[in-house]
Amino acid sequence: MVKTKIAVLVSGGGTNLQALLDAQKAGDLSAGEIALVIASNPKAYALTRAAQAGVPAVVCSRKELGSQAAFEAAISQALAQHGIELIILAGFMSILSEDFTRQWPRRILNVHPSLIPSFCGQGYYGLKVHEAALAYGVKVTGATVHFVNEVPDGGEILLQKAVEVLPGDTPEVLQRRVMEQAEWKLLPQAAQRIAEEIGREKAQ
Ligand code: GAR
Repeated sequence: MVKTKIAVLVSGGGTNLQALLDAQKAGDLSAGEIALVIASNPKAYALTRAAQAGVPAVVCSRKELGSQAAFEAAISQALAQHGIELIILAGFMSILSEDFTRQWPRRILNVHPSLIPSFCGQGYYGLKVHEAALAYGVKVTGATVHFVNEVPDGGEILLQKAVEVLPGDTPEVLQRRVMEQAEWKLLPQAAQRIAEEIGREKAQ
């Protein structure tokens, strides 16, 4: 079966991108091919990871492009140039408008570092999610992979995994545990599942 072409959109460290690249190398992402990395931030360490893996990468910075429309046009152009069929948001900290998301129904995945519907939506990203979980005092948190639609963190849930909060956790310690135990496992699994689904649709 022809591999589904995947773009991974990143903004920072890119450990979830790394998990996808590692899964591909290990043969666990056999239905897909990571064909493009798009970074919203020229300084993202994820760009170094893409270069090390030999994956083409482009920077689309909303700040540099001046408007949401120009930002999304640049992303769309890069996706078209590389024949992308599936988009994965892996720590992508820019918002995509409804104009954009409705062009990709069930074709954009996001990983979020909590058990949605807890600690999600506007303002909940990165470490802030773990700060909020600790402030609330939950004893279990986790990660969610979901489809992206026009509602922030509101699309259909694909996979979730629970992770224990331990006494003395700091946001950083909890973030690392959620990544190790949940995000880095769930995201490649979901990518494989949807890449397979797209492959089957193309074969029909
Ligand atoms: C991850 O924990 C990811 O779930 C989170 O940002 C981190 C990025 O880390 N994403 C969000 O909060 C999106 N709402 P990474 O750059 O090392 O993959």
